[in-house]
Amino acid sequence: MSNQAVAQKMREHHALMARQLHILADNVLTQKEQWETARNEVGAYLTDDILPHAAAEEATIYRVGSETESLKGLIESMLFEHGIIRETRDRLLAAPKWEEALVLGTEAARLFDVHAEKENRFIIAVLEPRNDIDLASVLGDMHHLLSR
Ligand SMILES: [Fe+2]
Ligand SMILES: [Fe+2]
Repeated sequence: MSNQAVAQKMREHHALMARQLHILADNVLTQKEQWETARNEVGAYLTDDILPHAAAEEATIYRVGSETESLKGLIESMLFEHGIIRETRDRLLAAPKWEEALVLGTEAARLFDVHAEKENRFIIAVLEPRNDIDLASVLGDMHHLLSR
């Protein structure tokens, strides 16, 4: 698969995850009667999809990115954001009130929007045109990066 095709799949996968996270976060607002269930569904999506995606990135595209001098600082900040997403998930799942769950769910979705767009624009877009990097082989097992 060409770098262009892999990069396109990564961007599409980011868009899909961002959409899904917003749908689930919006459910916390609209399903006030069952807000705890809606809160737990946001938490479960972060645990089962977003965070495994983040871990897969750390082992693949971030590892390769950090070998590029100009990307080192950015990769550090992206790792930091993975930690913030994890922390937001923990706080969300412990949120004792609807209002708090609502704010934290929305915050997680918005944070992921910005984070994923940074990957699209400043990591993927930089690696995509490089002919010394084969994105398909960098990603290896692409399950968590592309196919969920
Ligand atoms: Fe990430
Ligand atoms: Fe990502």
